[in-house]
Amino acid sequence: MPAGLFLTFEGLDGSGKSTQCRLLRDRLAARGYPVTATRQPGGTRMGDSIRGLLLDSRKESPSPHTELALMFADRAQAVSEVIRPALEEGHIVLCDRFTDSTEAYQGGGRRLGSRIVLELHGLLCGGLQPDLTLLLLPDFDRCLARARQRNARAAGATGQDENRFEAEDSAFFRRVFEAYREIARREPGRVVEFGEGSIEEIHRRIAETVEPRLAAVRG
Ligand code: ADP
Ligand code: TYD
Repeated sequence: MPAGLFLTFEGLDGSGKSTQCRLLRDRLAARGYPVTATRQPGGTRMGDSIRGLLLDSRKESPSPHTELALMFADRAQAVSEVIRPALEEGHIVLCDRFTDSTEAYQGGGRRLGSRIVLELHGLLCGGLQPDLTLLLLPDFDRCLARARQRNARAAGATGQDENRFEAEDSAFFRRVFEAYREIARREPGRVVEFGEGSIEEIHRRIAETVEPRLAAVRG
């Protein structure tokens, strides 16, 4: 088993994952813990190319199965190139989205079901499981509005388009939301849910949740 600690952030677009991931990374690094922060899709050179294929709404849309395969192509590379090596060195790995995203978006949103996702995870990622998953589920409409606003700002500033998923209708995101709730019900020991709250409030609750797990990691 890898020696480090593997923490993932999950939730709808705009739920605050990247913000909370950054705050936790800074807090842990300030206390001297070795931390590797990464995200999916992306986080490797190959993954960044795959991210462009998946998210740019100006490019042609992949079929649901192609989308699923690309998510796992990205993840298999990230697991072998970044996540496993960092865990083996004893790092705390913070990953902004992991396989729960695929189960929620492709399994739930695209209606491919959980089974194919979990089977591919076992086959392509060696079944690597997070030690703890921080699932951010604030108000549904508020987080989607925030994601759309943020993407519009980024598109204005950089010309980059990451809008493919944000263009989906709210029925799609309702299915994603429900799939996340189902994962949390299925795995209460791994998945901890966080609802509404200010950025600082959620950060404080996350820090409290993570604290007892740190004893296993050398600071
Ligand atoms: P995600 O990575 O889940 O898409 P982000 O961390 O990028 O979400 O947050 C999306 C936007 O919402 C950002 O502009 C961020 O500052 C804002 N935001 C994040 N968390 C909160 C919160 N708890 N309350 C209000 N705004 C938030
Ligand atoms: P991300 O950059 O985390 O978006 P956001 O910051 O808006 O939450 O992820 C990009 C999109 O990719 C997001 O809409 C969710 C989607 N996605 C999947 O559909 N399946 C997956 O397995 C992953 C990792 C992401």
